[in-house]
Amino acid sequence: MSDRVIVNEVGLRDGLQNQPRHVPVEGKLEMLDALIAAGIRSIEATSFVSPKAVPQMADASELYGRLPLDAGVNFEALVPNEKGYERAVAAGAKTVALVLASTEEMNQKNIGMSLERATEVNIAVIKRANREGIKPRSYISTAVGCPYEGDVAPEVVFDIAARMFEAGAAEVAVADTIGSGDPAQVKFIFETLAKRYGPERLAAHFHDTRGLALANSWAALECGVRKFDTSIGGLGGCPFAPGATGNVATEDVVHMLERSGFETGIEIEGLRKAVAVAEKHTEQKLGGRVLSWIESQERRKQAKASAAAE
Ligand code: COA
Ligand code: ZN
Repeated sequence: MSDRVIVNEVGLRDGLQNQPRHVPVEGKLEMLDALIAAGIRSIEATSFVSPKAVPQMADASELYGRLPLDAGVNFEALVPNEKGYERAVAAGAKTVALVLASTEEMNQKNIGMSLERATEVNIAVIKRANREGIKPRSYISTAVGCPYEGDVAPEVVFDIAARMFEAGAAEVAVADTIGSGDPAQVKFIFETLAKRYGPERLAAHFHDTRGLALANSWAALECGVRKFDTSIGGLGGCPFAPGATGNVATEDVVHMLERSGFETGIEIEGLRKAVAVAEKHTEQKLGGRVLSWIESQERRKQAKASAAAE
């Protein structure tokens, strides 16, 4: 199994979609530049959703048109339906991420469709993307728990994954949207899916609502998963999933992986700068646990140095 792990930054989409303060395109591009400078090479840059549903993403087409396409970055865009797909492709997207929640009510709240209708729409867009040379990624959201319907049986996730792969999804990302999963559940889901489809076709997407996101990431890693969605500074939440907090922080995942001998190609110091940029634009304090630790080490060093100088 490869030691190389793809850290897919989703802060600009999953993170910003929930922010009360609108971050203009210039601010988003500044965040992107800082992330790329840190070594991030896979980014979900935005979503082509209804601007009424998510005003923060109303600038998706403009942002996509201004992405640094020569930076060697895999850019992805979330699309909820055919119209979103068309807008994304017109803006230059080469990879799209479809989204299907595991429950009836979450689909209704999130994209205004029944589970059955949303499944049909996902399948139709995945097929069309394949015909048109666009890579379709498939999110199964609220894969462990739903804010409206409670616990979700793993069989539901297996069934959706089967239908998405059958339709032609290149990759399935299992998303614990409200951060209700534990490592044992995560292990069972990913172990089963990895056996059926191969771990290289899977990705993990965890929110840190109950502080289990790193443990869950490790559980998925042990099942062979090598692609993780993370958010700079832990930015995020979902406007349609009450109580959900941000994604697992990019810097915490990178720190865990690099310390454990995996390769990400990403520098923590660079991420620290990216967190500062995100803080400036969102006007909130961000940052994973590893940054608090780095800062405390620096304070100690400074205190020692000034004591020695006295
Ligand atoms: N992008 C922009 N506009 C869109 C759109 C898209 N992807 N899909 C539909 N619309 C427009 C329609 O053209 C229509 O416009 P009009 O009022 O000017 O005629 C309007 O939105 C309503 O269309 P309808 O098909 O009835 O959609 P809806 O109002 O039921 O909304 C979604 C459906 C999917 C567009 C909306 O629920 C949505 O964007 N959800 C995404 C939520 C999200 O981002 N969640 C977090 C990520 S998972
Ligand atoms: Zn999410």
